[in-house]
Amino acid sequence: MDLRVSEIDAAWGRLDAAAGAARARRIESLFAQEPDRLARLTLSAAGLDLDLSKQPWSLADLDVALGLARAAGVEAARARLFAGQIVNLSEGRPALHMALRAPAGADFKAAGQPVSPEVEATRAQMRAFADEVRSGARKGASGQPFRAIVHIGIGGSDLGPRLIWEALKPLDPKIELRFAANVDPAELAQALTGLDPAETLVVVVSKTFTTLETLTNAEVARAWLRAALGSAADAQLVAVSAAPDKAQAFGVPPDQVFAFWDWVGGRYSLWSAVGLSCAVALGYETFERLLAGAAAMDRHFETAPLATNAPVLLALAHVFNRNGLGRPIRAVVPYAQRLRLFAAFLQQLEMESNGKRVDAHGGPVAHPTAASVFGDAGTNGQHAFFQLLHQGTDIVPVDLLAVRQPTDGDPAGQKKLLANAIAQAEALMVGRPEAEVRAELDAKGLSTAEIDALAPQRTFLGDRPSSFILLDALDPERLGALIALYEHKVFVEGVLWGIDSFDQWGVELGKTLAARVLGELEGGAAGAHDPSTAALIARLRA
Ligand code: F6P
Repeated sequence: MDLRVSEIDAAWGRLDAAAGAARARRIESLFAQEPDRLARLTLSAAGLDLDLSKQPWSLADLDVALGLARAAGVEAARARLFAGQIVNLSEGRPALHMALRAPAGADFKAAGQPVSPEVEATRAQMRAFADEVRSGARKGASGQPFRAIVHIGIGGSDLGPRLIWEALKPLDPKIELRFAANVDPAELAQALTGLDPAETLVVVVSKTFTTLETLTNAEVARAWLRAALGSAADAQLVAVSAAPDKAQAFGVPPDQVFAFWDWVGGRYSLWSAVGLSCAVALGYETFERLLAGAAAMDRHFETAPLATNAPVLLALAHVFNRNGLGRPIRAVVPYAQRLRLFAAFLQQLEMESNGKRVDAHGGPVAHPTAASVFGDAGTNGQHAFFQLLHQGTDIVPVDLLAVRQPTDGDPAGQKKLLANAIAQAEALMVGRPEAEVRAELDAKGLSTAEIDALAPQRTFLGDRPSSFILLDALDPERLGALIALYEHKVFVEGVLWGIDSFDQWGVELGKTLAARVLGELEGGAAGAHDPSTAALIARLRA
């Protein structure tokens, strides 16, 4: 076994041993034992405050986890990432989303080739386009200014922009932005309803420009424009793609095709022209502020020592739970209605990036990889799945997000929202011992039999971990920093697990089979299938 592999194995062994000891104590007890716990496990980065002190690790365990990060080569991998080396081995590409949000004058290289000038040129093209649409200088085929955008794309070509729009949209937007991702025609029908084709831009976003859902929706939207405006309607099509020739072949005017590059992964692409719809609907300045926030997190991630590096610590806390303590599920709960899509965004970011069973070189992984992620906005989640978080048989670590300043509406509600976020973190960790429950029921005058029956139901074992991320305000900068924080966390986890976080071969088989089944549903010859699949096809073949 080579020296590095044995060092990594030894570091994993120490993590497992540390986690084993962690099982035998309560998180809460660590605060008394470690006077500097809060100081070491809270940090600020790029305008975000993180509190990782309600995680099950002791400070000694943190050092063990940092030892794992060093042994696994996180620092060297980070340097390779920022240097634009090929970190996506199975597709032979760098992953250089940081270049998209770097300040002007940056000098990123993808596999040795300078990319920053092209990035800046595309940003200038986006700015000009956004300003022209917003000012009314750019008009539709019949001379009317644009009042709506329909953004068509799926996965990484949808989730990021949708999250950004929900998070930052004005209550009464000057330009309405709607999304259609699903091949279910119901979604596009809803998106188009009530819009005037003469005032609507259709922005088709697809890295490959081959995605079934997106092309299907794009054709329907183009037909909707043409039905109202004739062939001149194509002037209202815009495309964002790493395959610009395909976009032009679809009928998009060449000056309305915005490029991005194969070194931008789909789920890391919202910073590119994939964010064009948001840049137009929110205004380009807002989009630049989002980029600036992400760039601030990039600087932090690239330069901060591992021990005070927010993405690294967030990743290590997750790995301590996932691998050390065998917890395969994590919940993400933003106490901000405007961030309600954050869990959906993270599902792609984390599960598509790190849901892998072979390592970057094709061998079986040595350790379980990504946890399943789910979540919804707080406080709504409290009235849905928090029962399981508090009293279920599995321990589900939770990321709680909160925003100090209110965004809209009656500011009095904000303190209630924040109180709930804090109280949930406390309740998850502290719980409620049976003795306390019994004393309370006794004080209420219940009989012993009644107390015996009720006390177990009302007891909370606690000791359930959470991370707390606080944003002072939900502004574009902090939103950018928040997303970049999780991107880099996912990268660090991928390094620890030895996997390629930037490919997604697991999505391919279903696509191939769907094409085959579609042929059969449309009347083609029946193929060979298992009996269950064959029966479903027979039933749905009209
Ligand atoms: O099917 C998964 C996927 O390839 C994602 O990785 C990607 O974000 C999405 O499809 C959309 O792909 P495209 O942007 O090429 O249409």
